[in-house]
Amino acid sequence: MKKLTKKDLLVPGMLLALGIVPMLGGLARLGSLSAPTTVENARFVAAPTPVVLHIVAATLYALLGAFQFSSGVRRRWPGWHRRAGILLALCGLLTGLTGMWMTARYRIPAELQGSVLLGVRMLVGAAMVTAIVLSWSSIRRRDVPRHEAWMIRAYALAQGAGTQALVLGPWILLTGEVVGWKRDLLMTLAWALNLGVAEWIVRRRTRAPRASATAVSPSRA
Ligand code: HEM
Repeated sequence: MKKLTKKDLLVPGMLLALGIVPMLGGLARLGSLSAPTTVENARFVAAPTPVVLHIVAATLYALLGAFQFSSGVRRRWPGWHRRAGILLALCGLLTGLTGMWMTARYRIPAELQGSVLLGVRMLVGAAMVTAIVLSWSSIRRRDVPRHEAWMIRAYALAQGAGTQALVLGPWILLTGEVVGWKRDLLMTLAWALNLGVAEWIVRRRTRAPRASATAVSPSRA
């Protein structure tokens, strides 16, 4: 069996690096649920179910999902790709649905979520759920290129959380704080960037289809 090369781990490594800040933020938030209630954590303490489900599902999705994009990992452990894919589809659905749940139901202060971000979060959550369902139905029809395209889009939307940390981090370092419409727009920009990159990757792959991508191979399902 062919050994994994550094190249096989490059993409997962980059994706994990992108997701590290929200993943660590998730651990900190889970810890804060048992701390004394403050203005900052009150909404999470009052209704912990969606945020706990969200953090667990999103962390698994970002972590395990990164390895699904390595052709080396898929080749070496084809069964793993399929089994992890089932768990990931469920985690992805849960991430999007709980994201929408919190957007709609939490009393998020207006400086942290204006009407623009509210609308965008609902759209992103719905788009993520739709992309996962389409990806699932594509692989059931053995349409591997379409399955891959929808999974790339779904993962890119989830990793918006990582890009948001990259976009907001320097802004906060420079100006001290970012709230209100500026925050709404920067959060939206991060999702738009990810979607743009995902579309670019999908189109590039469509223009130059690899022989292995067009062949129907259960190992890639
Ligand atoms: C892998 C992807 C994601 C990760 C790792 C992630 C992580 C997190 C974390 C750690 C929190 C807690 C934030 C805090 O403590 O203040 C959170 C909250 C939240 N997330 Fe996500 N998330 C992801 C994807 C999404 C998506 C796709 C949506 C949009 C539907 C979303 C919507 C929300 C909302 C609305 C909250 C509550 C924000 C608040 O009350 O201030 N998340 N997420």
